[in-house]
Amino acid sequence: MATEQTIGILGLGAYTPERIMTNDDWAELIDTSDEWITTRTGIKRRRFAADDETSADLAVAAAREALADAGITADEIDEIVVATDTPEMYTPDTAAFVQDRLGVRPVPAFDMAGSGCAGFLLALDVARCRAEEGGKNVLVIAVELISRLMNWADRDTCVLFGDAAGAAVVGPGPNPIEMLAAVAGTDGSKAGILCLEAGGTRVPFTLEAAKAGLHKKLVMHGREVFREAVHRMGDAAREVLAKAGMTLDEVALVVPHQANGRILDAVAKRLGLPAEKLYSNIRDYGNTGSASVPLALTQAREQGRIRKGDPVLLISFGAGFHWAALLLRF
Ligand code: ACO
Repeated sequence: MATEQTIGILGLGAYTPERIMTNDDWAELIDTSDEWITTRTGIKRRRFAADDETSADLAVAAAREALADAGITADEIDEIVVATDTPEMYTPDTAAFVQDRLGVRPVPAFDMAGSGCAGFLLALDVARCRAEEGGKNVLVIAVELISRLMNWADRDTCVLFGDAAGAAVVGPGPNPIEMLAAVAGTDGSKAGILCLEAGGTRVPFTLEAAKAGLHKKLVMHGREVFREAVHRMGDAAREVLAKAGMTLDEVALVVPHQANGRILDAVAKRLGLPAEKLYSNIRDYGNTGSASVPLALTQAREQGRIRKGDPVLLISFGAGFHWAALLLRF
């Protein structure tokens, strides 16, 4: 008799580059200190890609981990979705390079770009729909190589970020990680408080723009981002729990986007969540954008913080503003 198949997450994986950049390393380059960065953000160190690594390298490494964890090979993949704000090149998208490098058949492969740190959860929910449509195995990857594209002289932003990739395989299986409920939302009126304007049709690349450093000018109104992140991630958590008919008490672990330590503390306080139920790796990896949720989720499971049967709540928030929450059962 055939075993019953359910659509869910079949495997998880992550990759972080070897090079470690500490707060003291930053203090040698710009006017900052370990004390300022630690107290304002909870970050002590982050990983930066080697000079010869690109976004596709990071993405492929994480994808291989997720495929191995799922126990499937690249030729069993039916679709690829990559979430990134730091793509391999402007066009074509990173997914095309990943498809070729992994040796996946000529299946649909596309990027979901520009949704910032919320990208992975949005892509995961799209993958669930696509997997349900045709019993497909969908490879979802979130990758950020922010160190290559940020302004290393802008102390307001550069100390926050790190490079990483995370991946998941979504598809039918006898015993997958269940995706119980998902919610998402966007408030485009707040696009201007966290954005990289140059390079699009509004501010095309020109020599003058490049000379002015606009191609690396991340606009970030830190305090407003902070307020919005706490408000939206808190509300998204409540909304997805209500949708699944569950309470926060029933959740074993909350894995949020690792924006910064103080944002995480404020989200926990808003939700009334005890510290031991909130997973954070911000101290060692910083803010790795869309890759932060799959990286944290993979590490939480590796560290034994998640057991079979545990409900786990994922929440994220990013430029746009976009936010998303997803409730899983392992
Ligand atoms: N080192 C030392 N001093 C710094 C640094 C730095 N790296 N960066 C800024 N400062 C200075 C500022 O210039 C300012 O100096 P001034 O008072 O002389 O003007 C001073 O520190 C205080 O700046 P504030 O803006 O008051 O600092 P605040 O306590 O608000 O912390 C921070 C700033 C950490 C950015 C905070 O607003 C925050 O956490 N915002 C959320 C932003 C965020 O997490 N973004 C992540 C990307 S978005 C995402 O993931 C969704």
